[in-house]
Amino acid sequence: MGTKEELLKALELSRQKGTALSGQELADRLQVSRMAVWKAVKALETEGYEILSVPGKGYRLAPRSDRLSPEGIKVYLRQPLVDIPVFTYPVTDSTNKRASAYAGEGFSGSALFVADSQTDGRGRLGRSFYSPAGSGIYFSFLFSSDAPLSVLNSVTPAAAVATAQSIEALTGISVGIKWVNDLYFNGKKICGILTEAITAMDEGCENKIIVGIGVNLSTNDFPDQLNNTAGALNCTVNRCQLVAETVNRLARFAEDPYDRNFMDYYSTHSVVMGRKVLLTRGSDCIIGRVAGFDENGGLILDREDGGKPEVFTGGEITLRFTE
Ligand code: BTN
Repeated sequence: MGTKEELLKALELSRQKGTALSGQELADRLQVSRMAVWKAVKALETEGYEILSVPGKGYRLAPRSDRLSPEGIKVYLRQPLVDIPVFTYPVTDSTNKRASAYAGEGFSGSALFVADSQTDGRGRLGRSFYSPAGSGIYFSFLFSSDAPLSVLNSVTPAAAVATAQSIEALTGISVGIKWVNDLYFNGKKICGILTEAITAMDEGCENKIIVGIGVNLSTNDFPDQLNNTAGALNCTVNRCQLVAETVNRLARFAEDPYDRNFMDYYSTHSVVMGRKVLLTRGSDCIIGRVAGFDENGGLILDREDGGKPEVFTGGEITLRFTE
């Protein structure tokens, strides 16, 4: 790590503790001259970090300075996640694509890809995900697992719960979960999740899972076709912390993919429970009332046509409310 990165890490840590660091303290800690500290401060400012110089106290990262960086995210990651590779981008095509390319290079383990904006953000069912700069957060968590895909499929509801709980912990806002994996606030979608798998051809080999999460924090200028359905949390939150808190929770699933404790929160925060809905799968349309979820996040539907309650799993299905 260079002086600039070391300085950023020290400033992020001191911001978390609510303290300032003098030029001398920083020089001692980084084992460089005060002039080198000053130059690194200027370099960070040029990159857009807002650094306050408090007379008699030293340097502080401004509370509202919200640039994404591996150092800023790692300050909030728990053990052992602090050691995973973290990549941040002011702009990229799609963090899911970055994760997929990285996994394709033979990487095994966990890694995190985080963007301020995406030019080709991808959604479910081949849709795009609107990802403008400065008003949302777009990230993908990659992990490897030797559990079968049938078990790993539940990562989608686990990711919805991890994101909802992190939003609640950091902002106090309780969001709803719309099966399978959209988060809703004030009747509008504020978060989408796209899970992709790079599957092992041989049994006993690792599957690689990519969980891509996009959250609209203050996005208000949606394209016309999204205006009625998409919304934002409209709150202030440290984006590095929101990403890290979500990954801290989501990685529990990677550590033990058989644990289904998250399904309690999923059910109690569901906005579809008990509602009459229309499921569309290809050209099939099925109307019924949501009776609950199975332990893997499958939707249990009491069909209107009188058939037995049926369990639907995510895949290519869309859900609409009918009343
Ligand atoms: C959906 O609502 O259909 C899913 C949207 C998923 C969007 C996220 S943003 C980060 C990651 N990168 C992508 O290209 N897509 C996911």
